[in-house]
Amino acid sequence: MDRLIVTIDGPSGSGKSTLAKLLACRERFFYIDTGALYRSIAYLFSTQPTPEKLSKLSISWKKVNTEYHLFVFNRDMEPYIRGEEVGKDASIIAKLPFVRRFVNNMVRGSVKEGRYVVEGRDAGSVIFPEAQVKIYLQADLKERAMRRAKELHVEKDMILYKIKERDEKDITRKDSPLVIPEGAHVIDTTNKTQEEVYIQVISLLK
Ligand code: DC
Repeated sequence: MDRLIVTIDGPSGSGKSTLAKLLACRERFFYIDTGALYRSIAYLFSTQPTPEKLSKLSISWKKVNTEYHLFVFNRDMEPYIRGEEVGKDASIIAKLPFVRRFVNNMVRGSVKEGRYVVEGRDAGSVIFPEAQVKIYLQADLKERAMRRAKELHVEKDMILYKIKERDEKDITRKDSPLVIPEGAHVIDTTNKTQEEVYIQVISLLK
């Protein structure tokens, strides 16, 4: 069996996870969410990870119903890592080159033969620049804040400035800032339904 890699890059709330989950569920892609790694590291060590602490982690991806979750020492991290506070710490530790190296090596090592969708801020630009299909999703800030607010059941205005702050950190980061990967298909999801985005991406796979 050959290896097919689809990468999805883009800012917070642009629709990366939704698209990746649809590909995993309907097209049987193995789904790797790189943000879950940064979030898990932030959850476990707050803003104080060290190379020693990271080297002791035992990490795996497991299918839970139709989704893929990150497990650390056989514990499903999903219930603990989705809040905005963990997201904020994740964007702080994501600046550390040894953390990025750890995540990138972990992700590259997880990809063998088969179909993979790899989602993150630098999936197509840094981790897999050789991916066959690279997608970059973007959407207006207000729309992204609205989506996150719905997801987290919080006020839109409260989340808007946090997303803006996170965008700033992701874009200005020295190591692997958020960029449109070379050769990526850019899709603006602001006025598109999940289904419309999915159909557009599927047409790129044919
Ligand atoms: O996509 P997310 O919201 O789950 O990501 C959380 C944080 O992790 C994000 O603010 C920046 C960091 N991150 C990163 O720097 N590179 C990635 N490939 C994925 C996430």
